Amino acid sequence: MTQPGIFALGTPEHCYLELDLAPGAGAEQLVRGIAGLTGPLSSTGGVNLVVGFRPELWAEVAPADAPADAASWTEDLVGAGQYRMPATQHDAWVWIAGGNRTAVFDNARVVLAELAGTARVGAEVTGWLYRHDRDLTGFIDGTENPSLLSAAQVAAVPDGEPGAGASIVLFQVWRHDTATWESLGEHGQEQMMGRTKADSIELDDDEMLPSAHVARTTVEVDGEERQIFRRNVAYGGVTDHGTAFVGFARDQWRMAEMLRRMAGATDGVRDGLTGFLTPLTGAYYTCPSVDALARFAPPEED
Ligand code: HEM
Repeated sequence: MTQPGIFALGTPEHCYLELDLAPGAGAEQLVRGIAGLTGPLSSTGGVNLVVGFRPELWAEVAPADAPADAASWTEDLVGAGQYRMPATQHDAWVWIAGGNRTAVFDNARVVLAELAGTARVGAEVTGWLYRHDRDLTGFIDGTENPSLLSAAQVAAVPDGEPGAGASIVLFQVWRHDTATWESLGEHGQEQMMGRTKADSIELDDDEMLPSAHVARTTVEVDGEERQIFRRNVAYGGVTDHGTAFVGFARDQWRMAEMLRRMAGATDGVRDGLTGFLTPLTGAYYTCPSVDALARFAPPEED
């Protein structure tokens, strides 16, 4: 089974912790520590928890449960005109989501307390849902997401393949230059995005620029679209803010290809958004299936 929190829509408050092994701690110790987060993982914890590991770290500890193409993001992605997306890989990723900020805050502190001596914080992002379903560009984010009926097919490694039930997440924090973005006006923004702002209708083919975001992130193989499942949130305060991009897929290739296309690394055409939004981080994590994770958890008491 795929970690259920990936599909638990509607939680307004979020915290993402990227963790690194503490000095002297080992890979299996980290996996056991995270699989044993009994407080936040319990039904009385009041939050959803999704966890992931640096793909090579997970593959070392559980080789039979590792998705075939999952790998760390180790080198900056260089695109057209020396455009760069930075690689900032860490050892583990913990996403705590809940109905109110207090529950998220308290559980994030529990996570860190339980992992003391095993992991330390490499980066932390607190996020929230802005105007129900919009990101801080003001556009509705998630329109083309698969529904919950097919999200698992898109996000989880299928049965019979290595790492079945696992999902690969791309976690990438983007700072927005909101003043410059707003100076484009609604029509200019719609051309950058490739959809209308008010109701997220895709622009007609004759209006769609090749650099529009939705044109750049539409990846097809043999005429078939390679979808992903996105759970982006807004982060930050009024003077420094943006989007925490959180995308899940059954294979890593499709997300890496979207990034290459956004950076202009494949055909020299850069995503219009990249003139206004700056990627600050970038990492991939394997989110193991519940069954694989449970093998590393302490036995549950009756
Ligand atoms: C700050 C960064 C980003 C923002 C604000 C953003 C925002 C949006 C918005 C508003 C849409 C249109 C509505 C929708 O279908 O959800 C969209 C579509 C999409 N985005 Fe992004 N996005 C960002 C980064 C990314 C990245 C890094 C990827 C992939 C690696 C990505 C993949 C997609 C995909 C696959 C679609 C659907 C395309 C389609 O089939 O029409 N986005 N994004």
